[in-house]
Amino acid sequence: MKLILLGPPGAGKGTQAKRLQERYGIVQISTGDMLRAEVVAGSTIGREAKAVMEAGQLVSDDILIRMLEARVARPDCAKGFILDGFPRTVPQAEALDGMLARRGVELDAVVELKVDDAALVERIAGRYTCAGCGAGYHDMFQMPRMAGVCDTCGGGRFTRRADDNRETVGARLAAYHAQTAPILPHYAAKGRLHAVDGMAEIDDVTVELTGLLDGLGRDAL
Ligand code: AP5
Ligand code: MG
Repeated sequence: MKLILLGPPGAGKGTQAKRLQERYGIVQISTGDMLRAEVVAGSTIGREAKAVMEAGQLVSDDILIRMLEARVARPDCAKGFILDGFPRTVPQAEALDGMLARRGVELDAVVELKVDDAALVERIAGRYTCAGCGAGYHDMFQMPRMAGVCDTCGGGRFTRRADDNRETVGARLAAYHAQTAPILPHYAAKGRLHAVDGMAEIDDVTVELTGLLDGLGRDAL
């Protein structure tokens, strides 16, 4: 299954992508995670991306398109993938069309997680991640079973993202509405666009999403 999860910052793309990855045995490709790894590594891309990400703006199409093309060419993508955070601009969507066509691959679905802007600030401000395995949590909406201990790996160190603060969230939301939302009609015109209510509780969003994907038929799975 080849899938795009679209939605504003904090919509739940990463949370749901991790669940879909396990259920369908396909890989999550998060361009945000890839960029954050470049920043930590101090690479040329990372040095260029750091300030842009901390300002809540989008890193250049050129960098992202090259990064994504190299990633989908890796063997673990053969069974399928979930794009989380890409495409984010019309040029990225057009470049993706070209790279998939060259590989003879078709997208099965583009799913928009719909969430009101007002809910997003609270979600982002409360988000934290296990430093060991990357499992995602929230101060109120997704707490570990035992306080301070990761459910997945048992680790006890957690991190918060540099761009997860109220000031930057406004810029990230503005970038979503100005640059990313315009790609929705691109996929609607192809008959691939579906919407899921991202305001529901995390488990309920998963139920709606997997119901939709299971309904696409065996060919997609
Ligand atoms: P990226 O890492 O993609 O961030 P984002 O799009 O801003 O999205 P988030 O990761 O913040 O949110 P999410 O939808 O994954 O939500 P999550 O599941 O964590 O990009 C970061 C930056 O990198 C960009 O700003 C840009 O600079 C750059 N970049 C990346 N890709 C790029 C590209 N293609 N082009 C150019 N630049 C690019 O959930 C959030 C929190 O809410 C969690 O704590 C979770 O537990 C909780 N939560 C989730 N679902 C629910 C629910 N249903 N109810 C209650 N709480 C929930
Ligand atoms: Mg994410």
